[in-house]
Formats: sequence, C-alpha cells, structure tokens
Amino acid sequence: MLSLVMAGGAKKLHEYVDRRHRELGPVFREKIGPLWIVFVNSPDEFRRIFLRLEGPTPQNFVPEAWRLYNEMRAQRRGLLFMNGDEWLHFRRILNKMMLLPDSTKLMCAPCQEAAENLARKWTDHSLAGSTVPNLESQLYLWSIETMLATLLGSRWRDCERQMRSEAEHLALMLHRIFEYSATLSMMPAKLAMRLRLPVWTKFVRTADTILARLHSLVPEMIRLDSDGLLQMMMNNGIRDDDAVRIVVDFIIAASDTTAISMQWALLLLSGRPELQDQLFYDIKDLPPEEILQHPLLKGVWREALRLHPIAPFLSRYLLADATIGDYFVSKENLIVMSIYSSGRDGNDFPVPNEFQPERWIRTKDGSYQGVKNSYATLPFAMGVRSCIGRKLAETQMSLTLAQLIKNFKIECENRDSVKMILHLVSVPSKPIQLKLIGREV
Ligand code: HEM
Repeated sequence: MLSLVMAGGAKKLHEYVDRRHRELGPVFREKIGPLWIVFVNSPDEFRRIFLRLEGPTPQNFVPEAWRLYNEMRAQRRGLLFMNGDEWLHFRRILNKMMLLPDSTKLMCAPCQEAAENLARKWTDHSLAGSTVPNLESQLYLWSIETMLATLLGSRWRDCERQMRSEAEHLALMLHRIFEYSATLSMMPAKLAMRLRLPVWTKFVRTADTILARLHSLVPEMIRLDSDGLLQMMMNNGIRDDDAVRIVVDFIIAASDTTAISMQWALLLLSGRPELQDQLFYDIKDLPPEEILQHPLLKGVWREALRLHPIAPFLSRYLLADATIGDYFVSKENLIVMSIYSSGRDGNDFPVPNEFQPERWIRTKDGSYQGVKNSYATLPFAMGVRSCIGRKLAETQMSLTLAQLIKNFKIECENRDSVKMILHLVSVPSKPIQLKLIGREV
C-alpha cells in the first residue's frame, strides 16, 4: 500500500499495477486498502474467467455511490444494475438486437447523421482558427445525440430540433454526475452519504434531475412509434416501464465511455498527420457501410482503446473456488483483470506503447500484422456480461473519425503534456486542445 501511495496513489493505480505485474508475473495477490485482491494480466486467464469461471450470470462492478443512490430512492434500474435471472432475461433479448453481425444496419444511419452534425459544428471553430472549446462537453452531447438517434431511427430527424435542448441539458448533467461519482469513488461513498458531504448532496441532486428528465423523455419517445432500437425493444416484448429503465442506463453508460474514448483517438491521431492523409485518400469516396469495414480506420479506435482502455481494470467474483496462476482463489476473493497492463505487454504487441493502427491490418494468413494475441486487449470486456453497446460504440467511432478525417487535418496544441490518469475511468490529465484545419477538397 505504501508503495502505491509513493507511486502517485489512485490516479496512477494502472501504472503501479503494471509495474507489479512486471516484478511479480501475470498473477499476484496484494492488499489495496482493506481488500486482498488477486490481479491478473494473462489473456489465457481472462478467457478462462470470462468464458467459464464467472458463471452464467456474473455481477459487474458498479460505483458504490450509484448503488447507494438506487437503494435510497428505491430506483429500479437497467442492465448496469440488474443481476441474476432478471438480468439474463433482458440481456438475451437485447443481445439479439444489438450484438449480432447485422445489428449495425440499425445503427449506421443515426451514427452517420450524428457524425455529420459534429463535423458541421466544428467547421466554425476550424474557420475561426481556434481550438475546439469544451471538447469533452461537446463529445458528451455527440454521444447522447447518437444514442437518441439510434433509439428513434428515422423519427429522429422530425424531432431533432425539439430534442436538442433536452440533449444539451442531459449532456451537462451527465458530465457533472460523472465528475461527482469519480470524486466519490476516491472515498467511502457511504461515509460521504452519512456525513452529507457537499459532493454527495450534489451527486444526489444531479442524479434526481437526470432520472426525472429521462423518465419523462423516454415515454414520450415510446409514443412516437419509431422504427429505431426503442421500437424494436417494444416489438420484442419489453414493456414500457422496463424499456424506460433500460434506456436510462444506456444513455448513462454511453455518454462518458464514447466521449472519452473519442478524445483519446483524436489525440493519438493528431500525432500521425501522414496516417490521416492516407486514411483521407482511402475513405473519402466510400459509403458508410464500407467505411465500417476499413481495417486501418478500425485500427485507430482499437489502438486508442488498447492504450487507454476506459476501464483499465475489470473485476469479478468467481462462481466457485478455483486456481488462477499459482494462487488458490476462493469465491469470496475479488479478482481484478489488469486490462491496461495486458494491453501494453510487449509479448503480444511489439512496440507496445506506440500508437500503430497498422498493427491491426491482417496478413495473408489471416493473422494481425502487429498483434500476437488480440485477447490481451479487452476494452469492452468479454463473455456474457461484456459491453452491450459495443457495436454501437464501434459504428459511432468509425463513422465519426471518418467524417472528421474527410473534413479536417487534426492537430493538438498540447499533445505531449496530456497523460492518462484514473478518475473512475481513464481520462486525459488535462483538457485536450484540439485544432482542426479544413482540408482543401
Ligand atoms: C468506447 C465505448 C465503450 C466502452 C469502452 C465500453 C466498455 C464497457 C465495459 C468494459 C463494460 C463491462 C463492464 C464489466 O464487465 O465489468 C460495459 C458494460 C456496459 N456498457 Fe459499455 N462501453 C462503451 C460504450 C457503450 C455504449 C455506447 C453503450 C450504450 C448502449 C454501453 C452500454 C453498456 C451497458 C448497458 C453495460 C452493462 C451491460 C451488462 O451489465 O449486461 N456501453 N461497457
């Protein structure tokens, strides 16, 4: 614990754990705060845990502040907070809509529309020669708009204007609640609640506002009788009240994850102008469906998520006692999978700290050019409880990166000084100053 504090504390936990793996191997046990934790960074063990040992209805980690809030307000929540048979029931229905190979059909048009909107908006900053102001807030809004558009399908265009102010308010509130829950993750949230610390009070007030707005917005969206994801949920037997709580969690889970991952992708791209030019010539005339298949473009977000996984640690309890590495692990022990560390392992990714989207291009024999074991990077987790929004996030990132590359040369004024820190998830240590230079087409 002392060495953790010396290493810079919770903000640099990922670096500390990475160093410990180098010293002690792929599995080690250590006391962090009051808990004995088994840390794992082996792709083979990841597969064993996610595909077998976690069991058919694993529980994921949810921030304590949200758990306390749900109890206090007796809130019934969506997938993020469901467990057991209830979770399995809804998850099976949603998998069929959101994770099958043809699910992207539903997502392509709304993601493309949100991408074009963002590029249009950013043209003003490009023409003014200024950096993009409040980049993170703007990306929160982009993420919420994409989610709302995917839920509404072709009806989004009819209500876009009227929904815009709702989306803006939600983006502001979701950005705030992320900050509060990140601060509360640094302390025992229960104590913050008992002592009514200001951050707890603000967290509760903001959560109340977000949930109240979404509980009135989503039923209105249901009444629109759309052809998007929301209507599909209803057609597959999900009742209105369950659809509301599932959508609420989608919007909450989608906002910070995609907004922050996109920032990392843009920051990394800004350091590779020649790669941007290559991508520009490759994709400028491709329709969205073909852009989604472009391996080098996919490599951009894959590398961003490998180097800066939103969740650098994934935790699980096992269904039954097991041996992991040389350790006996009881089902009461917390297992933490070190996704950041495994994603930067030189044995699986030559020159592991370099941003090299090219490594994800396949060779003639079907293997990746510069990746020995793709299971060493699991930004969306794996197995039955992995990210349900994975295809949506991938579609959204590919189409938006393509749209930005088609319109601008992406530069960053403070690239070298931005580091990765842990603030509940992996975030940039300071606001990224992105500059966009219009491309002469
Ligand atoms: C780059 C973007 C994203 C990343 C890196 C990401 C990552 C993750 C990870 C790692 C988990 C699993 C956590 C665990 O097993 O402990 C997860 C779960 C989840 N994600 Fe995402 N996510 C992203 C975008 C989205 C989007 C766009 C949605 C919107 C639908 C979403 C909705 C969810 C939900 C609802 C869960 C809980 C699933 C369940 O418990 O069954 N995510 N995400």
